[in-house]
Amino acid sequence: METRHSELISRRRTFAIISHPDAGKTTLTEKLLLYGGAIQEAGAVKNRRAQRSAASDWMELEQQRGISVTSTVLQFEYDGYHLNLLDTPGHRDFSEDTYRTLTAADNALMLIDAAKGLEEQTLKLFEVCRLRGLPIFSFFNKLDRPGKGPFELIDEIEAELGLAVYPVTWPIGEGVSFVGIANRLTRTVHLYERSPRGRRIAGETVIGFADERLPAMLGEREATQLVEALELLDGAGTEFDRDAILQGKVSPAFFGSAMTNFGIEPFLDAFLQYSSPPVSRESSAGVIEPEYEDFTGFVFKLQANMDPRHRDCLAFIRICSGKFQKDMVVTNARSGKRVRLTRPQKLFARDLQSLEEAIPGDVIGLNNPGAFEIGDTIFTGPRIEFPGMPSFSPELFARLRNADAGSAKKFEKGMKQLETEGAVQVLHSREGRSSQAPVIAAVGELQFEVVRYRLKNEYGVETGLELLPFSHARWVNAGWAAIENGGALHDVEIFCDRRERPVLAFRNKWQMQRILEERPELELSTLAP
Ligand code: G4P
Repeated sequence: METRHSELISRRRTFAIISHPDAGKTTLTEKLLLYGGAIQEAGAVKNRRAQRSAASDWMELEQQRGISVTSTVLQFEYDGYHLNLLDTPGHRDFSEDTYRTLTAADNALMLIDAAKGLEEQTLKLFEVCRLRGLPIFSFFNKLDRPGKGPFELIDEIEAELGLAVYPVTWPIGEGVSFVGIANRLTRTVHLYERSPRGRRIAGETVIGFADERLPAMLGEREATQLVEALELLDGAGTEFDRDAILQGKVSPAFFGSAMTNFGIEPFLDAFLQYSSPPVSRESSAGVIEPEYEDFTGFVFKLQANMDPRHRDCLAFIRICSGKFQKDMVVTNARSGKRVRLTRPQKLFARDLQSLEEAIPGDVIGLNNPGAFEIGDTIFTGPRIEFPGMPSFSPELFARLRNADAGSAKKFEKGMKQLETEGAVQVLHSREGRSSQAPVIAAVGELQFEVVRYRLKNEYGVETGLELLPFSHARWVNAGWAAIENGGALHDVEIFCDRRERPVLAFRNKWQMQRILEERPELELSTLAP
């Protein structure tokens, strides 16, 4: 039984895609489901989304903006493995939710539009993955269109990210003459047939590198170019070393087209083989291995009111060890309270299906209004606590006013819920809270929009938003005493966060830089202590 449990864990892969909007994340996700057999024909997920969104208020904002505001988890099987794909919202204006979702992933897939190369949002998300030391796989997409050359793309990643790249696959031809890929690990060439928008799995012909039919099949020129490119890569010296991949030092890279399904299968095969199974995690009681007997997990996301007909609140929990069973009783490390985990949900896009059992690497959604906060650890067995979820340094600040004095209670209730969910950070002055006009802070503007939209739709409260002239914030790790003992901080706003910790807000980067240099004793940091 126990060997079976370890075996199941070793066949779990939990990952998130990081990309800039329009790189093809939705398309690729769908194709992964197609190859995993979770859907029979691509296009189905989009259609079902459209049907469901028409029936749900919450989706209205997503529809209006053509974006996905919520992040959930897709689970699918492939070749005897169980994959959990954490969906990070891909809109231009990303939010703290995206960061938090990455804390629940064991691997990242960096998806890059081959015509555009590295883009801003990918860079930001990459930094978070690097901080966590996640293994990073790279997929260069849209090879069916003219784009940058493969050597240029790889150079760009190595130079700008300082990340060594090992191309596992290499494209054959480009744009309209992109016909397939060469796989350097299996030493095979894969030539694909196109189908309309790649609705079905692409038909392919596979032959070995050394096969003498290659020049006839590719054309003399293409075949020579391929052989030369492969020799160059072999001579380049980046080693294919699994440990270096697992430490996030070397990124295995793949070329393909999510639209036409070229290169999807070789990516999946190599990903399963070389990506990280569920990892061990630091805790207050030492390192917790996934094989540790007792159940442990942490809350990385809360989402209320997904179903407008019920006042529900789903807590998304990443399981770190043990086995989750329906109706089990766990302890919340923060509150010390015991909670029965009833009504667990398995997540498939926005479809929530009931679930009986889950293991490390899995994510479950629990419907326990009020029992959890973001970052909470839950456990059976001896007490343990995982490090809390970091609060990210906001770059946007605003005063949010309740426009209607008659709805003061509803406004407070809504704000409390949204603050608990981490939809925005709420700051207040040290003298006290302004319950009807709090200061809200975020890393992306969309967070403000979501808060106002939800206050209106879920709590019936209209609000006004007044942007404040701050662009940077830092927590004072040394605490209030360090501020009081030092000289006055001119032109700097001092706020309290929800845990009464001091936060400084600056008008610009230079002002912040000056304080960082002049007042090292404050121990300013981008993350909350
Ligand atoms: P996102 O989730 O990362 O924002 O990207 P999404 O998959 O929605 O793709 C953005 C656009 O890029 C879509 O075009 C999509 O069809 C296209 N695309 C994705 N992968 C490929 C690829 O491999 N090759 C080519 N040529 N295009 C690709 P759209 O015009 O916005 O939508 P649609 O009308 O095609 O659905």
